[in-house]
Parts: sequence; C-alpha cells; structure tokens
Amino acid sequence: MNHSPIETLKRKAAERAADLVRSGMKLGLGTGSTAAHFVDCVGERARDGLDVICVPTSERTRLQAEGWSLRLSTLDETPELDLTVDGADEFDSALRLIKGGGGALLREKIVAAASKRMVVITDASKQVARLGKFKLPVEVDRFGLAATRRHIEDAARACHCSGPVVLRKKDDAQDFLTDGGNAIFDCDLRAIPDAEALAAALNAIPGVVEHGLFIGLASAVIVADPAGIRVLGDLAG
Ligand code: A5P
Repeated sequence: MNHSPIETLKRKAAERAADLVRSGMKLGLGTGSTAAHFVDCVGERARDGLDVICVPTSERTRLQAEGWSLRLSTLDETPELDLTVDGADEFDSALRLIKGGGGALLREKIVAAASKRMVVITDASKQVARLGKFKLPVEVDRFGLAATRRHIEDAARACHCSGPVVLRKKDDAQDFLTDGGNAIFDCDLRAIPDAEALAAALNAIPGVVEHGLFIGLASAVIVADPAGIRVLGDLAG
C-alpha cells in the first residue's frame, strides 16, 4: 500500500465519502487514483457486510470492484443511482470541475448525471480560482479528427481561451483510446473565463462526444489537506 502524504490525503477524503454509504444504496464508482481509494473503502466495508450495488465508470474501476467481489450493475439494469463518488483534476469554489485526466470522462459524466448526488473527493492541490490550468480533455469520435480539432480551437477562441489542442497519445506513441473507443484532445487553455459558454460551444461541435467540464453535477467536494477535511457544498445534497 502507498502511504505517501498525498495518498494518505486521498484516502482520508475517500473515507469521509464512504461514511455516506449505507446498505441498499446504488453507487456510482469513479475512476482515478483518488476514486480507487473509495472503491477500496467500499470493498472493505462490503467484506464486513455492507450490501450495495455498484456501477463502475471505467473498465479499470470495474476490475478493481470485481477484485473486492462488489455487486456490479450497469446503467441499463440500474438507471438511477443514489450516490456517485469520483475524483477530479480541478475544481473551483462553485463546484465546477475539470475531469478526464484518466480518460474516463464520458462514462464518468453519464454515471454522475444518473446519480441523485455526485460527491467529489480530492486533495487541496486541485482547487483553482479559475478552471483551465489543467488541460481540458475533450473526447471525440475518431472520424475527422483534424476537422474536429479546428472546431474545438475555434470554440475556445470564441470563448477567449485559446491554446494548443493536442491529440492524447499513449507511452508507445499510439493514439490513446477511451473505453468507448474514442480519441481525446487535451486543450491547454490555461484559464477558462466562461466555463458555461465553453461547455455549450463544445457540445455543439459534431464529432465531440463529451468534454471534461462538469458543471452543475457535483453536489459537494470533500477536500483533504494536511490541516484536515473541508467540505464545499452539501454532502446531503
Ligand atoms: C478520470 O478520467 C478522471 O476524471 C479522474 O477522476 C481524475 O483524473 C482524477 O484522478 P486522480 O484521482 O488520479 O487525480
């Protein structure tokens, strides 16, 4: 087990979120290193009798949940969830997020939107005054990549936040593909002055499957920092 200070903070945030879980709940399980701590917390409690149904947001998370023998479902069988707990790459005080650093943004957003509550778990390093420091992931269909990239650049420029839009690659230089078989452009926008406008502009581009701006989805953010746990928003949400 990794006990580095940052992993300890992520685990603390995950434990606080796990306190919200009750038997009988239908849970969305996020993706990423912080969400993985939450899956471990739920797995440990399930081993001790907690009875929950879980919908994972990625194949990675599904494998982890299977390792804990958690009861798994899909949104087809279980279209409404009580609570989704997930990490984020960036968040602001209005609970707006950038997600998708791990490439799971599409399923993460579908699962969050199917949940009565989305609680984000994170450490304090990811809080920003203005979104955009983290490169915004935009998931796109693989057909017409160059044309879609131009539209994304135009949309960003129109929203006063242009910057390099780069196709995500794997370590072996092959295109990164999401669980759904799509590509991702990472947009280095540095600062997004109007996240709502950019989200709407990206949504209007043919070829864009989903973008990593999560607006109006999180009901609370649990922030772990060395001084303790802080909660933004409403955990009862
Ligand atoms: C996965 O696609 C992402 O949205 C993750 O939730 C996000 O990248 C946070 O990951 P970490 O907890 O590993 O930082």
